[in-house]
Amino acid sequence: MEVKHPKDSKTIITDLVLPSETNPIGNMFGGELLARMDRAASIAARRHSRRIVVTASVNHVAFSKMIPLGSVVTVEAKVSRAFKSSMEIFMDVWIEDRESGMRTKANEGIYTFVAVDEMGHPVPVPELVPETELEKERYEAALRRKQLSLVLAGKLQPNQATELKAIFDN
Ligand SMILES: CC(C)(COP(=O)(O)OP(=O)(O)OC[C@H]1O[C@@H](n2cnc3c(N)ncnc32)[C@H](O)[C@@H]1OP(=O)(O)O)[C@@H](O)C(=O)NCCC(=O)NCCS
Repeated sequence: MEVKHPKDSKTIITDLVLPSETNPIGNMFGGELLARMDRAASIAARRHSRRIVVTASVNHVAFSKMIPLGSVVTVEAKVSRAFKSSMEIFMDVWIEDRESGMRTKANEGIYTFVAVDEMGHPVPVPELVPETELEKERYEAALRRKQLSLVLAGKLQPNQATELKAIFDN
């Protein structure tokens, strides 16, 4: 089967934060950022699989920095690991300083998408081979995150999550 690299799915969405997208203290709503991440992740998953893709799970989101009104927000999404029909998408969220143009990492998110046919049945996706050190790190950890997500969803018995259990046994 075809092999792909994270760069093949790289997707960048840059947009402003408008007044209707903020909370009462003038910072971006979490849900607005989740929606932007979902769009970027969906395009990345589609670029990797060239299939219809659906969001299966939001595995992790860290809202570590507030994003003020008027900010220029960039969501950068790449497939970090492909399994049989599912793909983990890792997203880095950046804001840029108006004057210097310097980028600061504001948040990150990890979603799982599944490739499906026209009937909504899961279909296989190409293998992913990571290239950079960061891509290799994210690839390695993705199996543990998949197992955690499946355990939380009640789709995997904790004693079957062997790679996840191993991090607690050390
Ligand atoms: C996602 C969906 C296709 C999975 O279908 P399913 O019947 O559970 O199919 P399977 O059990 O064969 O799972 C398919 C893949 O999804 C993965 N998966 C399912 N639920 C998951 C979860 N909560 N977290 C991580 N991966 C998950 C499985 O591990 C499997 O991966 P693999 O094939 O790479 O090993 C199905 O649940 C669905 O259509 N959900 C709705 C999606 C949607 O509408 N999203 C938008 C929400 S508004």
